[in-house]
Amino acid sequence: MTDMTQNTQALSMPSHIAIIMDGNGRWASQRKLPTIMGHREGASALKRITKHAGSLGVQFLTVYAFSTENWRRPESWIKEMMGLLRYYLKNEVREITKNNVRLKIIGNKSEFDQDIQDLINDIEEQTCNNKGMTLVIALNYGGRTDIVKACQDISKKVASGEMSSDSISEDVFSQHLYTKDIPDPDLLIRSSGEYRISNYLLWQLAYSEFVFSNKLWPEFNEDDLEDAIKQYQTRNRRFGAVIAN
Ligand code: FPP
Repeated sequence: MTDMTQNTQALSMPSHIAIIMDGNGRWASQRKLPTIMGHREGASALKRITKHAGSLGVQFLTVYAFSTENWRRPESWIKEMMGLLRYYLKNEVREITKNNVRLKIIGNKSEFDQDIQDLINDIEEQTCNNKGMTLVIALNYGGRTDIVKACQDISKKVASGEMSSDSISEDVFSQHLYTKDIPDPDLLIRSSGEYRISNYLLWQLAYSEFVFSNKLWPEFNEDDLEDAIKQYQTRNRRFGAVIAN
C-alpha cells in the first residue's frame, strides 16, 4: 500500500470524494447475519476509509449514511440504525479528533430524536477547529429535498426584498444548499455493483467523475480507495469545454 500511496499522490489527488456506501445488507445476508451486522461492519469500513483518505491528502469525504427515503424501511431497521448512529457519534469523537478530522452533518437533522441532534451538535462543535480532512456525513439527506429547500430559502429572501431575483446565480444557489462552503465532489464512488446515484448530491455531482466498485461496502478497503483514485486520475475532466487540438 505504501508504494501505491506514493504513486497515487504524485498525480492530482481528488480534493473531494463522495461515497455511496452500498451493500451492507447483502454482506450480512450472504453470511446469514442480522442486517444491522452489515451496517456495523460498514461503519468500521467508514472509519478505515476516513483515516486512509485523510492520509492521502483528500480534503473532503462525503458519505451517504441515511437518506430521506430510508424512513420507508422497516421500523426495526430504523431503530437499529439510530442505535448505531448514537454509538458512532458518542465513540468516534476521540478518534476523529486524534486524526484532526472536522465532522459536518448535512441533511435535515430536525427529524432525529433530540438526543441524536444534541450529539450531532456536540461533535460538530468539538471538531470544528480541526484542520485536517472534513468528513461530511449525509443523514436524512436527499438531493431533491436539498434543492427544494434552497429554492424555498431563496424565494423567502426575494419576497422579503433581501435579494433580487436577478442576483440568483449558480454560486448563490450553491450557497443555499446543505453543502454550502464545500466544493463539489471531484469523484463519486459507489460500492456493491449498483449504477445509480439514488438522490445523492444531485446538484453537486454535475461534473464529478463516477467510479463503481463491485465490492460490498463492508469489504471496501484502502486498496479499493486507491484503485478508485487511480481510475479518477486517468480521466480527462473537461467540464463541458472543448479541448484544443
Ligand atoms: C445502502 O444500503 C446503505 C445505507 C442505507 C446506509 C449505510 C450506512 C452505513 C454503512 C453505516 C454508517 C454508519 C454511521 C453511523 C455513520 P444497504 O447498505 O442497506 O445495502 P443493501 O442494498 O445490500 O441492503
